[in-house]
Amino acid sequence: MNDEVVELGEPDIRDLMDLEKLCFEYHWTREQFLLGLEGGAYKVIGVRRDGGLVGYMAFSLIADEMEILNLAVHPGYRRQGIGEALLGRSFEMCAARGVTKSFLDVKVSNDPALALYRKFGYKKIGVRKKYYPDTREDALLFRYDFQQNDA
Ligand SMILES: CC(C)(COP(=O)(O)OP(=O)(O)OC[C@H]1O[C@@H](n2cnc3c(N)ncnc32)[C@H](O)[C@@H]1OP(=O)(O)O)[C@@H](O)C(=O)NCCC(=O)NCCS
Repeated sequence: MNDEVVELGEPDIRDLMDLEKLCFEYHWTREQFLLGLEGGAYKVIGVRRDGGLVGYMAFSLIADEMEILNLAVHPGYRRQGIGEALLGRSFEMCAARGVTKSFLDVKVSNDPALALYRKFGYKKIGVRKKYYPDTREDALLFRYDFQQNDA
């Protein structure tokens, strides 16, 4: 299915917080969402299906760097290409702005996310020991170079 990916704003905050609670133990607060949705500190894009928000991604675009801050798909809608649609749209936005590199961190045990990022060509560049406050798990750091891959 070709999902339409749209930019989200302040009116979407309730849906975003509901989805976030379904997807993460340690979830973003209203204030953290408002930094992006109102303050423009980062971008939030999403996919709606069946009248509800089923996936979203938050990412910062600073100078020529993109950083993935959060990416989540509703548990009932996983493995249907929504994560890929979101990441793909963010890459298009990066290309349009001349972004050259992207970074992210991910829990070492998060196999679905690791597989998705590797599918898009991200390469592991490091480890941060016991990085996450909720589980004290290690973070794997990944990088993607747009010029090298998209020239
Ligand atoms: C990670 C996540 C966003 C993936 O979303 P999704 O919509 O299910 O992913 P897609 O259907 O677009 O899958 C795209 C690719 O990702 C990989 N992938 C996704 N889920 C996977 C799984 N459970 N096992 C293995 N690979 C998986 C595959 O390579 C897949 O491509 P394929 O279908 O051709 O094999 C989703 O599992 C999620 O919300 N997890 C909980 C929140 C989270 O951990 N977010 C990441 C924080 S860093």
